[in-house]
Amino acid sequence: MTMSSRAPDYDAIVIGAGVTGIYQTYLLDKAGMKVLGIEAGEDVGGTWYWNRYPGCRLDTESYAYGYFALKGIIPEWNWSENFAGQPEMLRYANYAADKMDVRRHYRFKTTVTTAKYSDADDLWEVTLNSGEVATCRFLISATGPLSATRLPDIKGIETFKGESFHSSRWPTDEEGNPTGFDFTGKKVGVIGTGATGVQIIPIAAETAKELYVFQRTPNWCTPLGNTPLSKEEMDLIRKRYPTILEYVKSTDTAFPYHRDTRKGTDVSPEEREQFFEGLYDQPGYGIWLSGFRDLLLDKQSNQFLADFVAKKIRERVKDPAVAEKLIPTDHPFGSKRVPMETNYYETYNRENVHLVDIRETPIEEITPEGIKTTDGFYDLDVIIFATGFDAVTGALDRIEIRGRNGLSLKDAWADGPVTFLGLQSRGFPNFYTLVGPHNGSTFCNVGVCGGLQAEWVTRMISYMKERGLTCAEPTEQAQDTWTEEVYRDFARTLLAEANAWWVKVVKKPDGTIERRSLVHVGGGPEYRKRCEQVAYRDYEGFEVA
Ligand SMILES: Cc1cc2nc3c(=O)[nH]c(=O)nc-3n(C[C@H](O)[C@H](O)[C@H](O)COP(=O)(O)OP(=O)(O)OC[C@H]3O[C@@H](n4cnc5c(N)ncnc54)[C@H](O)[C@@H]3O)c2cc1C
Ligand SMILES: NC(=O)c1ccc[n+]([C@@H]2O[C@H](COP(=O)([O-])OP(=O)(O)OC[C@H]3O[C@@H](n4cnc5c(N)ncnc54)[C@H](OP(=O)(O)O)[C@@H]3O)[C@@H](O)[C@H]2O)c1
Repeated sequence: MTMSSRAPDYDAIVIGAGVTGIYQTYLLDKAGMKVLGIEAGEDVGGTWYWNRYPGCRLDTESYAYGYFALKGIIPEWNWSENFAGQPEMLRYANYAADKMDVRRHYRFKTTVTTAKYSDADDLWEVTLNSGEVATCRFLISATGPLSATRLPDIKGIETFKGESFHSSRWPTDEEGNPTGFDFTGKKVGVIGTGATGVQIIPIAAETAKELYVFQRTPNWCTPLGNTPLSKEEMDLIRKRYPTILEYVKSTDTAFPYHRDTRKGTDVSPEEREQFFEGLYDQPGYGIWLSGFRDLLLDKQSNQFLADFVAKKIRERVKDPAVAEKLIPTDHPFGSKRVPMETNYYETYNRENVHLVDIRETPIEEITPEGIKTTDGFYDLDVIIFATGFDAVTGALDRIEIRGRNGLSLKDAWADGPVTFLGLQSRGFPNFYTLVGPHNGSTFCNVGVCGGLQAEWVTRMISYMKERGLTCAEPTEQAQDTWTEEVYRDFARTLLAEANAWWVKVVKKPDGTIERRSLVHVGGGPEYRKRCEQVAYRDYEGFEVA
């Protein structure tokens, strides 16, 4: 046990002003703590602040994602669509921030560059890009699972003379508003066909002169089925908020779906077909999350659905050769997050849209004029990199985080994160990672799960403050057991067969490759039960001093 000799400037510093960070800041303030929030962006919103590309919208039902409304913080909030678009999401985050009055705690346009733990004082010294240093007892990252943008490592990328940008850094005007980037008459290249590319492509295709989609790996995409919400529908939804909240908390991923009790093989082929038709026609993630209970456990059951979705792709795409290229062959259905699409497949029936299979003919380089593959040259005015993120740990890797004895977090997690409950890592006392690696909020409807986690962390910090405790970190045993459990749960599923963003591919000393999960897939209710048990037993598994 160390005796604190220096009082910290703040009880807590929260990094990030996305939906999770602002709620954490609000809760700590309400609990009577002095809190500082740091956010790189100019304002609140996180994901919904940064991702201003056309077509960006929720794939969770708005009312099920909107925790601030569900919790009664902004019950008056009216969703205009079943799956809200980014502008509405940003308005939602702003409205909630105003109502919770959290902006006053934040420093915007400010980046945390280093965070170092002082053993002598049980506090964190946090350095900002301005060079200022602030100290706190508790350091909480709400830096986002999908906030660290990733540009591809392609030769000549910097030489391109046209416009080029990552999907999460869409061009804005001087006031920071999206310019409504005009594709009209332009030759546009999109690299990447994940959920982001799948949202951008149909919209860019409508006005671009030519659209070239550079696809490395096709995804299993299914219809979003978005529709407007009328005032009457919204009033009914609002009346059901308590039920909706309890329901989503009871499901594995906090989406408003639970699995069918049957296995894929329990029913006849005709019944299965009919069942899949119903799932395909219903809006949202039902097809992924309310199908047969063994969808992500049994290869045959999975293949049934994969075959069905492949058939749909063949029906929707007129050119059979293009259709085949759009059908995944390397990963089971749902082993990566399923992009929810609107007219995605029909887009390939347009004459101005061209699918370039860069698995077959890889990109060799980007030149000042366009993209050169092994098969030809594509003359372009615009290149959009929809190439994803250094997910889950990326934003933390970009901060120099040093715990006890100068231990670097990046080094400690070089072979994959090691955590207890995904919330803390040994050697990094009082450092909490919300919606971070191995915790139950990341493979989840984050709007809800991030909020629930912030509530738990607030309780633990309050517990410590009330008792004059200044230091908590997991025991080695607790964190090893948790980490093994995370890997074991993941390995049981077909998720282990895909290079999704929630996977870290680790090369072992014998040269073999292992996919280590960056997320906990054991289900939200089970996760939260474990967290409650730990709390009830005075934070068993943590050394609290
Ligand atoms: C396009 C897109 C659509 C999505 N749709 C859904 C969906 O429908 N449903 C769902 O459940 N999830 C969705 N997600 C996941 C989404 O990230 C979460 O829903 C949620 O918004 C995460 O909130 P957060 O506050 O935890 O993190 P974020 O919203 O990512 O906020 C993190 C913030 O931390 C800041 N930050 C990071 N590092 C630093 C630093 N060093 N210094 C200062 N600030 C820093 C960032 O600037 C960012 O603003 C989507 C993600 C993307 C990219
Ligand atoms: N609400 C929504 O509907 C929505 C929308 C957008 C994002 N999201 C969330 O954000 C997550 C990430 O989505 P994302 O599409 O941004 O990222 P992503 O799923 O990681 O997809 C990135 C895409 O870029 C490709 N790519 C990456 N590097 C490349 C390179 N060097 N050369 C060629 N292609 C390259 C990838 O191909 P490979 O597959 O071959 O690597 C993949 O197609 C989603 O899974 C989802 O959780 C949600």
